[in-house]
Amino acid sequence: MDIVVSGIRPTGNLHLGNYFGALRNFIKMQEENQCFFFIADYHSLTTHPTPADLHGNVKSVLVDYLAAGLDPEKATLYLQSDLPETAELYLFLNMNAYLGELERVTSFKDKARTQPDNINAGLLTYPTLMAADIIIHKAHKVPVGKDQEQHLEMTRTFANRFNRLYKTEYFPEPVAYNFGEQLIKIPGLDGSTKMGKSEGEGNAIFLNDDPSVIRKKVMKAVTDSGPTEPGQPKPQPIENLFNLMKALSKPETLRFFEEAYDQCNIRYGDMKKQLAEDAIAFTEPFREKIESLRSNDEYLRKVALMGKEKAHESAAKTIREVREIIGFKPF
Ligand code: TYM
Repeated sequence: MDIVVSGIRPTGNLHLGNYFGALRNFIKMQEENQCFFFIADYHSLTTHPTPADLHGNVKSVLVDYLAAGLDPEKATLYLQSDLPETAELYLFLNMNAYLGELERVTSFKDKARTQPDNINAGLLTYPTLMAADIIIHKAHKVPVGKDQEQHLEMTRTFANRFNRLYKTEYFPEPVAYNFGEQLIKIPGLDGSTKMGKSEGEGNAIFLNDDPSVIRKKVMKAVTDSGPTEPGQPKPQPIENLFNLMKALSKPETLRFFEEAYDQCNIRYGDMKKQLAEDAIAFTEPFREKIESLRSNDEYLRKVALMGKEKAHESAAKTIREVREIIGFKPF
């Protein structure tokens, strides 16, 4: 049985990018693997959230995990900060991670550009913390979206380096996973190639968005005046709409608009109306469950506690063994 580990940073409710890139796969994988899914709340400290925001965002992700069908009886569902063993492994891995390679990571370079006043050490060592999350359970597979590919490669580098340094084969090589298919990237509504919370208002559709909000966001999506001759390649914002439709709508709906595009008689207003209705129908079941789970604090507390205990069992074993391998031995 494979060991599967993955996490999501708590920045608020989850959006369709998180769902299709990660959460949907978590739900499929929990049936046949030993799964550890967590909320990456240590990681979110790199942006200095207020205590109230941090707590609220963690709750939103926990609720969304459950609303989407993560079963706390099948998978281990926990908060990263409930597993301090992760922080200890992070420390060990940092001793063996080099400034040059950390500075070259794309996500670090992006963050350094977008938050020049807060280029902290946590940002630089983000990939070592992520590697610790994964190898603390000796994972084989990591369901993530395309944007996490480079981080996974770093994880393999750190795991292999540890094995080499201590002449052991202790850590397996974890791979990014999407059921034998390419990792995916869900585009945003603002013409950018990635749906994401930090990409700006209106770019993302959240699992708990009201129908009126979804309609407004989709109708505002960037388009152009349409193709003028058959076979013309699609500009990025148009390609994005088609990709969203591919994820959300029925194949015949997609085909209808593809043909209209090819014949140069596409009406983007109609396409967006259809896409909005399909997004509303898709998110409907989540919205209802999110609503009822949010007010059930007792259940959420129980789930978090159960996850913490199960995760600790696995992590404590790894840390015990890693300490021995490194040479921290009891007298
Ligand atoms: P995060 O919180 O940015 O995103 C969570 C998951 O959602 C996926 N995702 C997307 N997939 C497709 N299209 C999109 N537009 C899109 N936006 C987000 C991400 O690929 C990710 O799978 N570093 C991680 C969190 C993390 C983690 C880990 C993941 C920390 N430790 C250990 C796996 C294993 C992150 O920031 O993801």
